[in-house]
Amino acid sequence: MKRKLLSTVLSVAMVATMLVGCGSKTADTAAEAPATTEAAADTTEAATTEAAPAADATAAAGGKIGVAMPTKDLQRWNQDGSNMEAQLKEAGYEVDLQYASNDVQTQVSQIENMINNGDQLLVVASIDGSSLGDVMAQAKEAGIPVIAYDRLIMNSDAVSYYATFDNYMVGTKQGQYIVDTLDLDNAAGPFNMEIFTGDPGDNNANFFYGGAMDVLQKYIDEGKLVVKSGQVDFATVATANWDTATAQSRMENILASYYADGTKLDVVLCSNDSTALGVENALAASYTGDYPVVTGQDCDVANVKNMIAGKQSMSIFKDTRELATQVVSMVDAIMKGGEAPVNDTKTYDNGTGVIPSYLCEPVFADKDNYKELLIDSGYYTEDDLK
Ligand code: BGC
Repeated sequence: MKRKLLSTVLSVAMVATMLVGCGSKTADTAAEAPATTEAAADTTEAATTEAAPAADATAAAGGKIGVAMPTKDLQRWNQDGSNMEAQLKEAGYEVDLQYASNDVQTQVSQIENMINNGDQLLVVASIDGSSLGDVMAQAKEAGIPVIAYDRLIMNSDAVSYYATFDNYMVGTKQGQYIVDTLDLDNAAGPFNMEIFTGDPGDNNANFFYGGAMDVLQKYIDEGKLVVKSGQVDFATVATANWDTATAQSRMENILASYYADGTKLDVVLCSNDSTALGVENALAASYTGDYPVVTGQDCDVANVKNMIAGKQSMSIFKDTRELATQVVSMVDAIMKGGEAPVNDTKTYDNGTGVIPSYLCEPVFADKDNYKELLIDSGYYTEDDLK
């Protein structure tokens, strides 16, 4: 929406948002409910507070915001959804929150309903960023602005803004952790490594993998890091739907084929916590050597517990409260007829041009700093992690 106009206000917005920031630097990311449950609950509250259309520059705060989340299966999206809902309500908006059971068609239908039910702005965390083109075109046709949440929506000129964490930085932090922990610049090696990244339909997975490999490739080329399975390229190390069981079964196959003879596995690069959990399950079942370094992302409860127990070395903390705060400020700006604050206008080209983005900073977490990051900040209680 009016992306080109942004250039005129961008520098002002960037300065402003640099001052505000997204996340303080002190904090360095069940059964599926039926897709209709929340829709039903939310539409009952709908009609009373219809505000002027989003495009109306005179619109006051208030109005109905559609929030499309991918799944309740992963802890982080539950947190994202509830943080968004709470903060939007607090800011005076009505919220139409939907989870799509990781099913693309369900998400498409939910977004269609949002459009037809008079939602005035859409915040969408896509399941498959390349599968929303048609419904995005409908949103554009209806004059409804769209913010891509955490995952970029590809090949659509209907996307006004993108808010996420710096996905490339997530990967470089994971890669650098491996370099530092194995002391790759000094140790003789070689060290054996295996690689697990995420869903190929999730644009973020390319950034996580790309960031980590930009740090690690040199050591692979020198022979200091050896991928015994030979499984290195993105397509081979991708994990459909970021699924824990899929990662587990691939790790079990790798362990059986390449490490069953006692070969030491030194490190597993996992792009996130759900894949790390699968790897950790496989290691628990079928690996008896010294425990390898395992990376992750999200600080999911199960993984933080594993970190405390020494079964996962690190995770990346993405404080979903901070992302929600940022997105709510974007929503508010757009609903009031203004331009949303951004801090990146170079990185995220969705195939139709660069989408103005706000990148929050991801933070390194391990067993030494998790208390400060996760408990002192109120993200979890001590009991959550017992
Ligand atoms: C998110 C990660 C998450 C993954 C799986 C990615 O798009 O950025 O935080 O672990 O999806 O849900």
